[in-house]
Amino acid sequence: MNELTGRTALVTGATAGIGRAVAERLADAGAEVVAHGRDADRGAELVAAITARGGRARFAAADLADAADVERLAKDAGEIDILVNNAGIYEFSTTPATTATAFDRHLAINTRAPFQLVAALAPGMAARGRGAIVNISSTAATSVAPVGAAYGASKAALETLTRYWATEFGGAGLRVNGVSSGPVRTRGTEPMLAAAGDAMDQVTARGRIGDPAEIAAVVLFLVGDGSSYVNGTVVAVHGGERSLLPG
Ligand SMILES: NC(=O)c1ccc[n+]([C@@H]2O[C@H](COP(=O)([O-])OP(=O)(O)OC[C@H]3O[C@@H](n4cnc5c(N)ncnc54)[C@H](OP(=O)(O)O)[C@@H]3O)[C@@H](O)[C@H]2O)c1
Repeated sequence: MNELTGRTALVTGATAGIGRAVAERLADAGAEVVAHGRDADRGAELVAAITARGGRARFAAADLADAADVERLAKDAGEIDILVNNAGIYEFSTTPATTATAFDRHLAINTRAPFQLVAALAPGMAARGRGAIVNISSTAATSVAPVGAAYGASKAALETLTRYWATEFGGAGLRVNGVSSGPVRTRGTEPMLAAAGDAMDQVTARGRIGDPAEIAAVVLFLVGDGSSYVNGTVVAVHGGERSLLPG
């Protein structure tokens, strides 16, 4: 029997990038996946790919910038054992160039939507005495840059929430952890990576950009029974920090 057989996983932002890799990895491990996104065509394509490999998945659409739509998603999802808060947006603009609307949008999608989903789904996990939640954060939460402050703040808040939720729900048998991802090649980052060329490969000690499957592998560990004593931790998956010193 596969590790996650009998469990249902909601993966947000599963129609692209890291979320898609997570959805596929969890389905391969036996979970029934509720694959969330907005793009119905890419959602259908993902469900077909998982089904073709013998897995089980269905697509669920919702705009996470809309609080009412997030609540509807939580209801539509039904009984969930595993929640992966992956969907997110990132705009790397300076603070003067970031409008209040753009700031609110980062907080709504990256922070408020996970908050709403945990509020709606964690009580059911607690009642059943088991569950795992993984929040996808970013090294932008802890490593500062001259652009992207709103994004970094939205992920720093998500990491703080991760620790709060681990404490709030840890006694009820569910675990809440995070993954702090370094740069990964996805649909969303492809334009930035193309513009930066080889220079982006040099930002990590491994000397290359990560692959979505390398984040998904850690998510699988964090939702599986092998991490039963891991709670309230944010695991850094960034290929190692590059020394600023020469040599
Ligand atoms: N890629 C990286 O280098 C990197 C590094 C650190 C952290 N992260 C984090 O990892 C997560 C995934 O990043 P990614 O690069 O894989 O992203 P991506 O390729 O841009 O895909 C984003 C996903 O989120 C969904 N999404 C975006 N806005 C949404 C909204 N308003 N409502 C509902 N769904 C929405 C998209 O759905 P549709 O396409 O269907 O609209 C898509 O499935 C994000 O939280 C990001 O901050 C990424």
